[in-house]
Amino acid sequence: MLLSKTVPLIDTSEKEVSAMQYTAKDYSKLIGMGGFSETLLKNHFTLYQGYVTNTNKVMDILNQMLKDGKTGTPEYAELKRRFGWEFNGMRLHEYYFENLGGKDGINREGKFARKITEDFGNFETWEKDFKAVGAMRGIGWAALYQDQMNGKMANFWINEHDVSHPAGCNPLLIMDVFEHAFMIDYGLKRADYIDAFFKNINWSAVEARLK
Ligand SMILES: [Fe+2]
Repeated sequence: MLLSKTVPLIDTSEKEVSAMQYTAKDYSKLIGMGGFSETLLKNHFTLYQGYVTNTNKVMDILNQMLKDGKTGTPEYAELKRRFGWEFNGMRLHEYYFENLGGKDGINREGKFARKITEDFGNFETWEKDFKAVGAMRGIGWAALYQDQMNGKMANFWINEHDVSHPAGCNPLLIMDVFEHAFMIDYGLKRADYIDAFFKNINWSAVEARLK
């Protein structure tokens, strides 16, 4: 649905293929938050910016290939597969950075906490499950999703960026557990990184995603 809004319709004119569609957001305000070094965050921002650049690049090349009648090629197929990886690499980092930088802790009487209690029994049970997902071996993402069909929430393991996303669900909380997200500061102590992540969750941002 998003693509239909952002990718211009291709016509038969000689119009230039669209310019860059996405712009990297500035998350430098996160520098200084507890448990995350400036070096780690700056490296992470640079990595995110690479996904934005590549998302734009892949979209432009695919648009040009469509215009040139090259859609039946292996190059088109491979780039189309790559598109999901680059796009989600961009978008998931935006969700991640935007659900960080919180200072106030969760409002246990708020809409999000009440929904968590409704779906998981209590906040601690949800937190235990989400942290367990994040601690799983392998690289990927821990993600709390809300099913838009029935409103129910569930924690998911997202392997890589483009695999395992539940269709029809909205991401509420995203935690990066690729090694680049923590190894500079924590080495192999992923659980300590997860604790630091939880101390910095922007619960207002998470609650705003709830439908
Ligand atoms: Fe990352």
